[in-house]
Amino acid sequence: MKVTLAYNLKRKDQTKPADYFSEYDSDQTINAIITALQRKGHAVEAIDVGTPNLFTYFRKNSVDMVFNIAEGKSSKFRESEVPAVLDYLNIPYTGSDTFSLALALNKALTKKLLKAENIPTPNFQVFLKGNEELNPDLKFPLIVKPNREGSAKGINTSCVVSTKEMLFNKIKEIMNIYNQEVLVEEFIAGRELTVGILENGKTTILPILEIDFSTCKDSGEYFYSWRMKEYQGNKELGLVPTFHCPARIDKTTEELIRDVALKTHRAVGCFGISRTDIRLSQDNIPYVLEINPLPGLNPLESNLPIMAYAAGMQYEDLIEAILASASERKRKN
Ligand SMILES: Nc1ncnc2c1ncn2[C@@H]1O[C@H](COP(=O)(O)OP(=O)(O)O)[C@@H](O)[C@H]1O
Ligand SMILES: [Mg+2]
Repeated sequence: MKVTLAYNLKRKDQTKPADYFSEYDSDQTINAIITALQRKGHAVEAIDVGTPNLFTYFRKNSVDMVFNIAEGKSSKFRESEVPAVLDYLNIPYTGSDTFSLALALNKALTKKLLKAENIPTPNFQVFLKGNEELNPDLKFPLIVKPNREGSAKGINTSCVVSTKEMLFNKIKEIMNIYNQEVLVEEFIAGRELTVGILENGKTTILPILEIDFSTCKDSGEYFYSWRMKEYQGNKELGLVPTFHCPARIDKTTEELIRDVALKTHRAVGCFGISRTDIRLSQDNIPYVLEINPLPGLNPLESNLPIMAYAAGMQYEDLIEAILASASERKRKN
C-alpha cells in the first residue's frame, strides 16, 4: 500500500514558549513509524503538514491511505484540521475522524458527554471569562488546566490550588497564556492509569499502564505534569517515573477500568486507536480525565507503545494494527 505519513515536526525555537511544540512529533517518532511501515512492505512518503499546502499536495500525489499523527495548528479544532481536509478530498486516514478528534480535544465537552453516559469523571467547571462565581459544590484541592491542549501543556504543580485566591490567579494566568477557556476540576488523589485500545477487526484493550511518581519525589513533581512528560527519564532532574504494565490492581478493579475505557472510547466515537487517562481514587473509582485519539507513538517513551509491548507486540505490529483498522473501515464504507 502507498501510505503518506502526515505529521507536525517538533522544532526548537527560542522565541517561542518552552511548551510551544510539545504536542508535535520528534524525528525519532517519525522515523520509527516510517521504518515500521516499510518493514511491513508499504511504500511510504512523509509530509510535515505545517509546510505544504495540503490541498495541492493531496491533489497532486495519489495516496491510498494517510497515516495521521498530525496535531494541527492552533484552531479550536486543531487535531481535526488535517482529517477535515482529507474528508473533503475523500482520502482515507488512520484513527478517529474529524468529529471525534474535535470533541476529544475539548476536555469539558467530552466530560459533559461522559457524565451523561454515567462514566465517572472529576466534577468540574469551565471558566470562559475568568471572573465567574466558583460553583460551591466543587471541593478543594482543584486543578486548573487549559481546556483544549495535550502533553500536559500549562499543567504544573502550581495548577493544583487550595484557595479561591490561588484558583482565580491561575485561571487568569492560563487564560492569558493559552488564549482559551479554562477547565477547573477536583483533584483526584490516587493512582495514575492509562488504557490503550486498538481496533482492527477486533477490539483489543491493551494491558493497563500504571505510572508511579513516587520515584520522582526529589523533583518536586508528583503527577503527569508538563515537566514530567517533557523530561521523562531525566535522572539528574529526578524525573524517572516507574511504569507498571499491567497495573498493580486487582482483577475486579481491572475489569471496571477496562469497561470505563471502552465506554469512553465508544461514547466519543473513537476509531482504531485511543488512550484514556484515568485517576483511580482512594475509594477505587476510576475517574476519566480525558481520551486521546492521537496518543503519542514514540517507540521508547510513549505510553501506548509501552502497553503494546506488554501485550507481546513489536512496534511495527502496533503501527500495522493502526493501519489495518483504517483499511478495514475503507472496505466497509
Ligand atoms: N482532576 C485531576 N486529578 C488528578 N490529577 C490530574 C487531574 N487532571 C489532570 N491531572 C494530572 O495531570 C495530567 C495531565 O492532565 P490531562 O487532563 O490528562 O491533560 P493532557 O491532555 O495534557 O494529558 C494527568 O495525567 C494527571 O497526572
Ligand atoms: Mg492526558
